[in-house]
Amino acid sequence: MNHSEFISHCQSIVGNAYVLVDPNDQAPYLSDWRNRYHGKALAVLLPKTTEEVAKIVKACDQASISIVPQGGNTSMCGAATPNDSGQQIVLNLKRMNTIREINPSNQTMVVESGCILQTLQEAAKTQGFLFPLSLGAQGSCQIGGNLATNAGGTNVLRYGNARELCLGLEVVTAQGEILHGLRSLRKDNTGFDLRDLYIGSEGCLGIITAAVMKLYPLPVTQWTALVAVPNIPATIELLSLFQKRTAALLTGFEMMSKDSLDLTAKQFPHMKNPLANDPLYTVLVELSDHEGEEHARNLMEQVLESAFEAGIASDAVIASNLSQAQSFWTMREHITMAQAQEGANLKHDISLPISGLDAFITETDRLIRDQFAGVRIINFGHLGDGNLHYNIAPPLGTNASEFNRAHEAAIHDVVYSQVEKHHGSISAEHGIGQLKLPDLEAHRGSVAHQLMRSIKSALDPKNIMNPGKVLP
Ligand code: FAD
Ligand code: MLT
Ligand code: ZN
Repeated sequence: MNHSEFISHCQSIVGNAYVLVDPNDQAPYLSDWRNRYHGKALAVLLPKTTEEVAKIVKACDQASISIVPQGGNTSMCGAATPNDSGQQIVLNLKRMNTIREINPSNQTMVVESGCILQTLQEAAKTQGFLFPLSLGAQGSCQIGGNLATNAGGTNVLRYGNARELCLGLEVVTAQGEILHGLRSLRKDNTGFDLRDLYIGSEGCLGIITAAVMKLYPLPVTQWTALVAVPNIPATIELLSLFQKRTAALLTGFEMMSKDSLDLTAKQFPHMKNPLANDPLYTVLVELSDHEGEEHARNLMEQVLESAFEAGIASDAVIASNLSQAQSFWTMREHITMAQAQEGANLKHDISLPISGLDAFITETDRLIRDQFAGVRIINFGHLGDGNLHYNIAPPLGTNASEFNRAHEAAIHDVVYSQVEKHHGSISAEHGIGQLKLPDLEAHRGSVAHQLMRSIKSALDPKNIMNPGKVLP
């Protein structure tokens, strides 16, 4: 099949309107959210059903055309951007957006992969349930993309990553077969866990077309506070204190450094930290309670009181209503936008054992400041999970692209060597994509890397699924 026969064949599968070949129509699908990667595509395909996806994959298999699966295209590591050959297709799942079932007694929902995350949260809420996966990109990322990246976000310390929220998957394999794995079981030890292979595989093994996701009872109230903390050890003590006193009620524990909030206020002046005296670290704490308002508020106040007495917190603001709580979260979620508006920056989505965070930050801050004078360290993240977004912005007044070109490799080296030294991970939640592909083997070791390659070649022997991502 030549390329024009292939395009006609795809048109016969999904309809002409859903095979995009015009460069203007294709443009939104060909670069990443950070505008760092740009590619070309033979076509962008928008299938509506699992059967259509299967037929497209079969055609690609026969014609040896590789496929870039794409969800909401919010990847932070270029995982959903095609290469510049113009020979790949982008297969975007956005039309597969049906919620097939919400099952109250099983506390599950069966959803197609193109459902927008926020739509799923809202649908669950209308039935009295919580779907806890929550991240800044939730208005545009898709559940298929969340599963393919094993997304994390702000509720992980209580409910886990996307992986922990998923019971079953429907997948189109690299040969175009349909793996019917929409099992709604909480216990299922029947051989190798194929679901766990596809979760986090970044589109390199197959295409997720639907999933069974867990639901939880909706809390009756949530209490949110911003807490001023003098240093990282105090932040960790505050985390332990909340864990000990509030246990499963603790659903959010986000850390924001002074520099990250200064940058947010610079770009969005109405998002100023309400805490006085610009604390070095601000922690956003969220409690979700199933008893009632008073219980939650008392608990929040009592734990904060203990934190003041122990000298690990110097100030706090408890949100007095929903809109104030939302404004705290908005400020937290806008650090990323502020960084994007400020200009190109170097991202490090890393995780460390919580006990190693202080040593990592103290040493790495010093090394970075000594070697790259004037850089701004924009450090924030999901501290309750040991996940830092340890980002580096160029010195004020320098040309960001030139600075990054000159120093990117050396800065990554410093940060990733420190991550290794402190037994962390070079990708906590965003994945490998193209950005971290060169670093994966050294980080995971040759045995793990070879096993990953064996799995890849067993499941996708022709290497048509998202080649050039994760593995070379
Ligand atoms: P895409 O970016 O389209 O794709 C990501 C990867 O998944 C690619 O490899 C792609 O090929 C593959 N893929 C997509 N759909 C499928 C499918 N159906 N089948 C197989 N493979 C598929 N991430 C976090 O983990 N935590 C955060 O807190 C967080 N915050 C963010 C905030 C902002 C403002 C932004 C822009 C991004 C954030 N991210 C975060 C990163 C990103 O949103 C997540 O990685 C998200 O899960 C990607 O979903 P997506 O639908 O946009 O996938
Ligand atoms: C976040 O936690 O805000 C995201 O993971 C995005 C980022 O790292 O900037
Ligand atoms: Zn994050």
